[in-house]
Amino acid sequence: MATLQNDLFMRAAFAEKTERPPVWMMRQAGRFMPQYWEIKNKYSFLEMCKTPEIAADVTMLPVDLLDIDAAILFSDILVTAEAMGGDLSFTQGVGPVFANPVRSRADAEALRTDVIGKLQYVADAIKVVKERLDARIPLIGFAGAPFTVLSYLIEGKSSRDFKLTKLLLNNEPELAHLILGKIADVTVDYLNMQIAAGVDALQLFDSWALALSWDDYREFSHHYNKLIFSKLNRKDIPIISFCKGSSVFAPMMAEAKPDVISVDWNADLKNIKTALPQGMAVQGNLDPFVLYAEKSVIKNKIESLFERMRGEEGFIFNLGHGIMPDIPFDHVKHAIEVVKEFRY
Ligand code: CP3
Repeated sequence: MATLQNDLFMRAAFAEKTERPPVWMMRQAGRFMPQYWEIKNKYSFLEMCKTPEIAADVTMLPVDLLDIDAAILFSDILVTAEAMGGDLSFTQGVGPVFANPVRSRADAEALRTDVIGKLQYVADAIKVVKERLDARIPLIGFAGAPFTVLSYLIEGKSSRDFKLTKLLLNNEPELAHLILGKIADVTVDYLNMQIAAGVDALQLFDSWALALSWDDYREFSHHYNKLIFSKLNRKDIPIISFCKGSSVFAPMMAEAKPDVISVDWNADLKNIKTALPQGMAVQGNLDPFVLYAEKSVIKNKIESLFERMRGEEGFIFNLGHGIMPDIPFDHVKHAIEVVKEFRY
């Protein structure tokens, strides 16, 4: 690991002492920024992801405008599924759509796993970003967790209830495992490619694991996440495990041995941290809706979280989930300033 000018994030991720909590925010490179729209109005979302210079421009927006402590690569969790054969598009107001959802054994068998070459643009983008960051702050790479990616491949789009996905898990678990195993294989190659390209940390997004029961989470999500973590070339590279539902699943997530668990806002963060194995860090867990509120409220909520976490080693400040597109930019900036002024 090259020496970083600001290594607060890395130290906190490895549960070392920091002067204040480091801050970054999920979806920090996105639509709440006017500067994002200047780029977005010229290209489609997938064009932005697939053109390394543009992906780097967007990755750098929050670095330059918000002065955060870690950058996250601009991309999407669904690029792995696209490379495997999904016909993916992003439509304004609809979100991601797969025109060829996986609905049969033949569809599942047709999914390819020798796809790392198709994802080379991500490695290229990482190299451009690393040059531009010039060792100021770390770069976080990421991928979608197999269960969450599976849900998009099966449903064909975002879903409220995951009805088709759960039908598959219940009626045809063996077919579900075939697809999950393929996604996991691709994800291992993909994340190791990101490490080789130069990311400093990785986050696995299992956004919709919250939909699962405890037993189903173990069988269809945890099992694969654990397998992935065990196969990463992770020396010096902290791994963050995120899901909505982490306030319930944290004890099982810890069994997969990530370095950091990213916690949603339903739980008391200190209680979660205390219950985790010694040396495992936490990330979170402000309710992103707080960022709509008045600035004094934003400050109070952040400071009371920090008072609660005082004395804990291994705490990265983040939201419990991503920034919504209509949150005012200056509220996000204010939140980051509040964090940066704080001292333990
Ligand atoms: O965090 C960052 O700023 C880095 C970039 C990033 C994006 N997507 C950019 C994006 C990351 C880390 C993601 C991950 C992602 N993508 C997740 C996991 C995180 C989460 O929010 O739970 C999921 C579930 C997706 C799938 C996805 N991509 C959805 C559901 C949507 C549409 C709905 C929505 O929230 O916008 C996208 C599109 C997307 N991904 C946009 C961005 C900036 C919006 C594209 C646009 O400009 O229209």
